[in-house]
Amino acid sequence: MALVGLVGWRGMVGSVLMDRMAAENDFAHFEPLFFSTSNAGGQAPAQAKNETKLQDAFDIDALKRCDIVLTCQGGDYTSEVFPKLRAAGWNGHWIDAASTLRMKDDAVIVLDPVNLPVIKDSLAKGGRNWIGGNCTVSCMLMGVGALYKAGLVEWMSTQTYQAASGGGAQHMRELLTQFGTLNAEVKALLDDPKSAILEIDRKVIAKQRSLSAAETANFGVPLGGSLIPWIDKDLGNGMSREEWKGMAETNKILGQGEGFGAAAVPVDGFCVRVGAMRCHSQALTFKLKKDVPVADLEAMIAADNEWVKVVPNTREATMQDLTPVATTGTLTIPVGRIRKMAMGPEYVGAFTIGDQLLWGAAEPLRRMLRILLE
Ligand code: HSE
Repeated sequence: MALVGLVGWRGMVGSVLMDRMAAENDFAHFEPLFFSTSNAGGQAPAQAKNETKLQDAFDIDALKRCDIVLTCQGGDYTSEVFPKLRAAGWNGHWIDAASTLRMKDDAVIVLDPVNLPVIKDSLAKGGRNWIGGNCTVSCMLMGVGALYKAGLVEWMSTQTYQAASGGGAQHMRELLTQFGTLNAEVKALLDDPKSAILEIDRKVIAKQRSLSAAETANFGVPLGGSLIPWIDKDLGNGMSREEWKGMAETNKILGQGEGFGAAAVPVDGFCVRVGAMRCHSQALTFKLKKDVPVADLEAMIAADNEWVKVVPNTREATMQDLTPVATTGTLTIPVGRIRKMAMGPEYVGAFTIGDQLLWGAAEPLRRMLRILLE
């Protein structure tokens, strides 16, 4: 039975991954070896079989025992450990949630319902590095990948509404703390139906502008009751790194663009942090290569994979089924608001949502593990 090293299984993404692996009975298919960066020698979790002690996540010899290493430990860990492990002659499969290795030529961004042929091709050629994609890109392609697979997309523009969880667990806590602080500031006025809304508004904005450093330590500025139209690093060319990933990763996942035969499809837009908890939403505008009826587009999208769900473009269905609240904690990828835009018959709009901890992070990794174990 393959020995699979698990690193970073206790963090937020790692915990979601462990839950999904338990739900899908993945542990029946391999012998787990649990690693820790802080508690080597401690007791491994209940899923352990013969290897019941936690291993040191920085111990190259211990990692070398593994046929497969799956890590959610983060980019710093990958940067430190991965080169040493390969330099030590380890030839196993490395599955990683971090972005560190994503754009390397010898790495595949894994999203098998979308790019199984790319994965299989790399496997046949001896590929060993399997990296989870950016959450926004993965959720988007799970929703509308059908249009790309059909070669219909001339370009796509995306405007995102990204949840606090994309920053990490502390960011989610910070968002809720801010909401609480703001509510407390005006609670007495809210309880009084005769109080003046503009007084409430004045107090809220004053509080937002004077939040303590501790209350904005993670986002840097208030997010509760506001938004932040910049995610990740400033690339110095007017783009955020998150926006850059949209085009780079979409094309790499699909096996097109730089280093591949087919031309890259332009993807660009703005990435915005909003006060949602763990679902990334995005409004998409497509320029299609030809005029395709909306009903045909809906049918293609609906038939693409078992998780995508086309939401009828009505007010009622949208409000019920096309929200972060409806989507959180599920593997469903709703795609709605599909309609032709005023610019012309080749211009199509859509809106899609995904739980960024599931399809955006954990799910593609556990599925890649199962592919390797087949
Ligand atoms: N970069 C994403 C975000 C999360 O900040 O929302 C992970 O892909």
